[in-house]
Amino acid sequence: MCGIFGYVGTKNAAPILLEGLRQLEYRGYDSAGIFVPGHALVKAAGPIVNLAAKIPDDLPGTTGIAHTRWATHGPPTERNAHPHTDASGRIAIVHNGIIENYRELKEVLSAQEIPCNTDTDTEVLAKLIGSLYTGDLAKAVQTALQRVRGTYGLMVSTADDPGTIIVASMGSPVVIGLSADGHLVSSDPSALLAHTKDVVYLKDGDLAVVTRDSYTITTVAGKPVDRAAEVIQWDAESVQKQGYEHFMLKEIHEAAEVIKNTTRGRIIAKEGKVKLGGLEAVLDQIKDLDRLVIVGCGSAYYAAQVGRYTLEEYAGIPIEVELGSEYRYKNNLQTGKTAVLAVTQSGETADTLASIRKAKAAGLLTLGIVNTVGSTIARETDAGVHNHAGPEIAVASTKAFLSQLTVFVLLTVLIGRENGALSTADASEILAGLEALPTIIDSYLQDVSAIEAIAKKYSTYNHAMFIGRKFHTPIAYEGSLKLKECTYIHAEAYAGGELKHGSIALIDTDFPVIALVPQDDVYEKMISNVEEVKARLAPVLAIATEGDQQIAEIADDVLYVPLVHPVLQPIITTIPLQLLAYNVGVAKGINVDRPRNLAKSVTVE
Ligand code: AGP
Repeated sequence: MCGIFGYVGTKNAAPILLEGLRQLEYRGYDSAGIFVPGHALVKAAGPIVNLAAKIPDDLPGTTGIAHTRWATHGPPTERNAHPHTDASGRIAIVHNGIIENYRELKEVLSAQEIPCNTDTDTEVLAKLIGSLYTGDLAKAVQTALQRVRGTYGLMVSTADDPGTIIVASMGSPVVIGLSADGHLVSSDPSALLAHTKDVVYLKDGDLAVVTRDSYTITTVAGKPVDRAAEVIQWDAESVQKQGYEHFMLKEIHEAAEVIKNTTRGRIIAKEGKVKLGGLEAVLDQIKDLDRLVIVGCGSAYYAAQVGRYTLEEYAGIPIEVELGSEYRYKNNLQTGKTAVLAVTQSGETADTLASIRKAKAAGLLTLGIVNTVGSTIARETDAGVHNHAGPEIAVASTKAFLSQLTVFVLLTVLIGRENGALSTADASEILAGLEALPTIIDSYLQDVSAIEAIAKKYSTYNHAMFIGRKFHTPIAYEGSLKLKECTYIHAEAYAGGELKHGSIALIDTDFPVIALVPQDDVYEKMISNVEEVKARLAPVLAIATEGDQQIAEIADDVLYVPLVHPVLQPIITTIPLQLLAYNVGVAKGINVDRPRNLAKSVTVE
């Protein structure tokens, strides 16, 4: 899940490439590099700032390709950094994806005495293209790609024809930007916003020949294809920090606005009704479902788990929740009246995408809850709901997670009203609560100083255990994931009732417990669980309902949150967990926007 960026136009390419890479750095920051045909090939290990230091400000050349890396094959060194070149050094490639049969191809090349000098799969492709090149770069790339198995979003350039970039896509996102002074190429549309909103998304199997004044798209086999230009909905400002120290903190503080945007035009509270335009065409099928399988990875998987509770409890339909990396390899998919719903912020997560393609191949209805408009999963699912949470730049998902929980509430009311499981009165109560939520969250976020203070205390521990029950069990898992991602602290999560079956053995004075104890229908049970871990001398931080004195007598520290409708409570309870992870990470001096070993969208398996 690297980031690729390209430019062919009238201006000097180097500064444009560097700024494009900075916008894409959330996709990987192990190493970076640029190729300006006829002028320079520069690489550096580590973040973009290291590369920028090696590039002269006045580097000429109005075409270039660039890359920021998340290492999959070979350690994050300068040697393994992209761009990689062919044997002559005149052809260079940048690649996001995995060439699965690179070992085979490497043997073919070494039989032709064409050695590879790095550990990467990508260099093999560069050497292969070079071995097939007889002056027509597009032809050589086409022929090479017909021998490749795997995924790619790539660009190839040569000093022999500096005004042309060859671009191809298979399983990794690539978008072409149409601007007044030339063309741009990027893994993500948000990196193009500084130049243009007019873009063309490549589809799997597309290959484009891009020059300053034109772009032609064919299949890898050479058959011309037509791809319509689209307009990006977001503006350049939305991908800036707007005065916050980190994107993560900015995105946490966008919670109220995000819930407003996610629900805008979708609630008819008086009638207890929800309108989800993107599902209208398939509402009859949804209403008739025997089973809904929800697929996601990471935070999206935990949002799906909360969705299962709300849909089963209030809409009465049986739900299965699957990890994308597991579901994609399942056999004998159950069919019948089953639909598969993908939950994904980026819309590009390889395991979730493969799960959708598997369901589609089995003839199942595929649905999506997707934040990134125009992403592959948004385009390939039959119907769905956009989150409208805006671009999420920080690697740790925060606002998109809250928006996913909000969409599940909307979906629950929609299906519950359609199949009669939910009364108008109950639906109106939930929707009225949802309409009031942004104001409640806004006032809650006015003063989060208590969390900053508590975070300092808990940043001194090397372990943590999160516990919750029912709707808050998946929130405990999400809290633990956030803490792991942003602080590198070993964090576990369990359903409160599960502790005594083994994991309570971990508990002692060095293993704090973060307990989610809102005053809902399992409150008393959670209180008993808190007393259980206190009996083992665990330091306890409770996330509890404002005004709850009982928990203050048991727990060492309490972070209070407002009490709202049980189906909405997980949205509020998550916010202090996001802020805790953020503040502990900052207290430990970690770059919380770019945690080690991670990347924002996981486009490889
Ligand atoms: C969450 O903070 C992580 N960035 C990660 O677990 C993420 O949720 C997962 O990779 C799924 O991404 P998606 O929502 O873009 O599909």
